[in-house]
Amino acid sequence: MSSTAKLIIEGKEYELPIVIGSEGEKAIDISQLRSSTGFITLDSGYMNTGATRSAITYLDGENGILRYRGIPIEQLAQHSTFVETSYLLIYGELPTRQQLDHFSQLLTTHSLIHEDMKHFFDGYPQSAHPMAILQSMVNTLSAYYPESINPFENVEVTAARLISKLRTLAAFSYKKSIGRPLMYPLNNLSYCANFLRMMYAMPTEEYQIDEDVVRALNMLLILHADHEQNCSTSTVRLVGSSLPNLFATISAGVAALSGPLHGGANEAVIDMLQHIQETGISCQDFVQEVKDKKANARLMGFGHRVYKNYDPRATILREMTATILSKKGIYDPLLDIAKELESVALEDDFFIERNLYPNVDFYSGILYKAMGIPTNMFTVMFAIGRLPGWVAHWKEMMESNDRKIGRPRQIYTGPNLRDYVPIGKRK
Ligand code: CMC
Repeated sequence: MSSTAKLIIEGKEYELPIVIGSEGEKAIDISQLRSSTGFITLDSGYMNTGATRSAITYLDGENGILRYRGIPIEQLAQHSTFVETSYLLIYGELPTRQQLDHFSQLLTTHSLIHEDMKHFFDGYPQSAHPMAILQSMVNTLSAYYPESINPFENVEVTAARLISKLRTLAAFSYKKSIGRPLMYPLNNLSYCANFLRMMYAMPTEEYQIDEDVVRALNMLLILHADHEQNCSTSTVRLVGSSLPNLFATISAGVAALSGPLHGGANEAVIDMLQHIQETGISCQDFVQEVKDKKANARLMGFGHRVYKNYDPRATILREMTATILSKKGIYDPLLDIAKELESVALEDDFFIERNLYPNVDFYSGILYKAMGIPTNMFTVMFAIGRLPGWVAHWKEMMESNDRKIGRPRQIYTGPNLRDYVPIGKRK
């Protein structure tokens, strides 16, 4: 293939370099376009814009492929732990035993939050959404850990601090919301077991760790750990490019994740399934309502900007959800509704023509529910899972030689030059 593309504007020919990724993905390098032609590109929603070169995650949406650092998501979900996968994403290689022990030790050392930060939880109303609390508390970490404020210093410790403390903040915000005593993490427990204990244990009684739930949680977090240049990760890169501290940067990522078109979809899926259950509407009629675009309704947990095939994460989750429900002896009618809704939609021309398949959020909510995690904590769980991905992208950007502040352009469509009119003379 030629290494340049030809662009003809107003009869004049320009050559633009072609860039090929390690999996054969093709791009036209337009970085010199404006200086050489006076034109910019316009691409609403960045549908065709590559914002960076990245060696972290490979995603082939047409063929339903997802790999972290080259390793298929299916293998990581089956064999790895969340901590090991976090290391892989952030540092680029699977850790040796020694590296993993060191990383785990860092997470253990930094699992507590400053005691004074606990008082902040008292200030939030009981009805506060845990994502709102999480976003503010992540940003607040920068006030308590000044040695982590310089984004070029103590990166290893700051990253570990954040990964460990996010879990503690999430569990504390849940405990606070239900008015129960906060539980401190225990040093001898794994990352996921510690989280479950902080969420559910009471100081008055022994807490039994359910290894099946620990395994399912590891898998859930691994599946969410990275997804290349999605909305929240792109936010992290954009905010991070102006060089604020990592806590402020990640807080922006949490905000982007909270929307129902992104991480908030898992909560919206359960609302949708419950609506179908409570109203008794058939899945066929519900799908028809979605197709009629009534009240802008969407089939939540379906469709994806990049996947035009079954999301591989949804396949793994569908199986894991059924396994956990049967192991725990839980019957959840929402799983039946979800499966029926999926089969109705997958046979419908509207969904077939638009390549709409279940995404990661379609089954994750049912699994969280089976694990006892309340609906308003679902997106918080997504944030815990996505954190190593955010950190990996931020670190990759900070170490890159062509790091620049993110600053897109625009095509101005407002009024042309006009004069200021004093208020008494305005029509
Ligand atoms: N239900 C019904 N119609 C849909 C859906 C859906 N879930 N998703 C897309 N469409 C239709 C849409 O109406 C449009 O139809 P038309 O061509 O007639 O106007 C067409 O498909 C293309 O949709 P789009 O909004 O242009 O596609 P997009 O790539 O901009 O949006 C999406 C991707 C994920 C925002 C969208 O599919 C959606 O809103 N899904 C539901 C929310 C959801 O599940 N989000 C979680 C995404 S996965 C987790 C994550 O990584 O964030």
